Amino acid sequence: MTTRYQQIQQDLTANPKTWLITGVAGFIGSNLLETLLGLNQTVIGLDNFATGHQHNLDEVQHTVTADQWANFTFIEGDIRNLEDCKQAVRGVDYVLHQAALGSVPRSINDPITTNQANIDGFLNMLVAGKDEGVASFTYAASSSTYGDHPGLPKIEDRIGKPLSPYAVTKYVNELYADVFARTYDFKTIGLRYFNVFGKRQDPGGPYAAVIPKWLASMVASESVFINGDGKTSRDFCYIDNAVQANVLAATASDISVGEIYNVAVGDRTDLNSLFATLKDTIKNYGINYELEVEYRDFRDGDVRHSQASINKAKTLLGYDPAFNIAQGIEAVVDWYFSSLMR
Ligand SMILES: NC(=O)c1ccc[n+]([C@@H]2O[C@H](COP(=O)([O-])OP(=O)(O)OC[C@H]3O[C@@H](n4cnc5c(N)ncnc54)[C@H](O)[C@@H]3O)[C@@H](O)[C@H]2O)c1
Repeated sequence: MTTRYQQIQQDLTANPKTWLITGVAGFIGSNLLETLLGLNQTVIGLDNFATGHQHNLDEVQHTVTADQWANFTFIEGDIRNLEDCKQAVRGVDYVLHQAALGSVPRSINDPITTNQANIDGFLNMLVAGKDEGVASFTYAASSSTYGDHPGLPKIEDRIGKPLSPYAVTKYVNELYADVFARTYDFKTIGLRYFNVFGKRQDPGGPYAAVIPKWLASMVASESVFINGDGKTSRDFCYIDNAVQANVLAATASDISVGEIYNVAVGDRTDLNSLFATLKDTIKNYGINYELEVEYRDFRDGDVRHSQASINKAKTLLGYDPAFNIAQGIEAVVDWYFSSLMR
């Protein structure tokens, strides 16, 4: 049976559209770019390289054909600048707004800069997209919006209080998107990502996410740290699932505007078992990591447990995650070692 995702991919290939990806030089943005160019779409990308990298774009260039790469236009610009946003949305059908400053600790250290990118920049993009009359505006929301709500699994309409400035910004995005949907009949769709991981996720810097950071440390035989007792759990979601959700959301014609969807797998893995799985998987590549994990204090702003209900995305978007965590870990480790060889 053909899934909705397969059907949409066929339709897009037959009838290509023009997409804008903000944050295109980042982890999720560059993966969206790779998929869309592979489907012969026309793509405009906007990024200011705050946390993204030229090498991510270079890697995508090497995975697509020269003709597909010719369908890509890159604008080096800043979402905090309305003119840059207006230039980027010109002639666009679908916006996938990914640009933001991620990381809970970064937002605790510097809430003003996070606010400027994540709220001012978001509002600029909303206004630019609405004024241009784009067909849909899909944006990166976050599971951090569940805040201190204890319920598991997380269901879209039951949220708690935000636990960090980052979580506040992502919640404000949802509020603005909802108001724009109702006030201007503008089709906004929020995707609450739960710990997305995969190729091109940045392993470096103080705000790196756990999987690329640990992989890099293990390969270099450096210490791996766990903040807390290791029982903190997350719904780790492989990048291809998040890409699928974006394509499904942007093109959905029969859903209510202003809605939010969890994007995850619906499983929960704690940090101790993540460590064990990574350690086992890299053995297949000849790396025996022999150090013990080092435990340190819990980190401010971190949610203790996270696991999504993905029923809403399944039912209304036809979302069908193709990778569970084990398959995702295998894929990212494979990419990691093949990119080390290049
Ligand atoms: N990775 C996850 O697990 C996760 C989870 C929840 C939400 N998100 C959200 O998904 C989106 C993408 O995250 P990612 O993991 O790919 O992070 P990333 O840091 O790799 O990508 C973000 C991109 O946005 C760009 N950017 C930042 N500020 C900008 C600005 N002012 N103007 C233009 N570009 C700017 C960066 O340079 C970078 O390329 C973000 O909105 C993030 O908050 C990610």
